[in-house]
Amino acid sequence: MADESSQLTRHSVRNFSDKPVDTELIKEIIAEAQHAPSWENAQPWKVYVAVGETARKLREANAEAISQGHKSWAEVTPPQAWADKPQQNITYWQHGMAAYMGDDVQSFRSAGQKLYNAPAILYITIPKNSTNYSAYDTGAFGYGILLAAEAHGVNSLPAYSFARYPDIVRQYFDIPEDEAILLGIGLGYATDAKMNQLQTKREPLDAALQIKD
Ligand SMILES: Cc1cc2nc3c(=O)[nH]c(=O)nc-3n(C[C@H](O)[C@H](O)[C@H](O)COP(=O)(O)O)c2cc1C
Repeated sequence: MADESSQLTRHSVRNFSDKPVDTELIKEIIAEAQHAPSWENAQPWKVYVAVGETARKLREANAEAISQGHKSWAEVTPPQAWADKPQQNITYWQHGMAAYMGDDVQSFRSAGQKLYNAPAILYITIPKNSTNYSAYDTGAFGYGILLAAEAHGVNSLPAYSFARYPDIVRQYFDIPEDEAILLGIGLGYATDAKMNQLQTKREPLDAALQIKD
């Protein structure tokens, strides 16, 4: 196996400490991720970053909206049903997470209410009239952010939960109406909470691969 790289050490963190991430470092991470490939270099993504007081207000507003039972979906909605293969993997992950967390499973499930205490929240948008290829391009960019963050010693979480209340997010940023908030990424530094050590497995290579000679 190749030397241990960011791809192998990166994992999702769902409980961040209060330590802020330096804004210049955030810019460096995003600049590195901008090297992601995209369809004819289309670079369809944009990023809106909340730190400090703005991130704090967003965390509070999110918790308040959830406690009041406000129903909301992200602007790019998950499907009603997943295809068999992803659904099987999702179910496997859910069971593995519950077994790992044991009696403390509720802390995992509620970690998103205050946006995982992330000190920096990156909202990634794509044009509303995007094709699947723009989503593909932006996924590469998003993963680039996670890997660059890891290489700089910054923990991360890509999460739908960050983008669940787009109306709140739009109060804090000037996001044009023709852009959709695709996903949020939290950046920060992990606490030693149990949920941060959850190890996820990947399906056997054969389940996703065919090679013919
Ligand atoms: C598009 C996307 C949305 C996600 N949304 C959430 C979320 O809302 N809440 C959460 O706790 N994790 C979320 N995750 C994190 C995944 O659960 C995690 O990446 C997966 O279980 C693999 O674990 P790892 O990141 O530790 O390797 C999301 C990941 C992706 C790529």
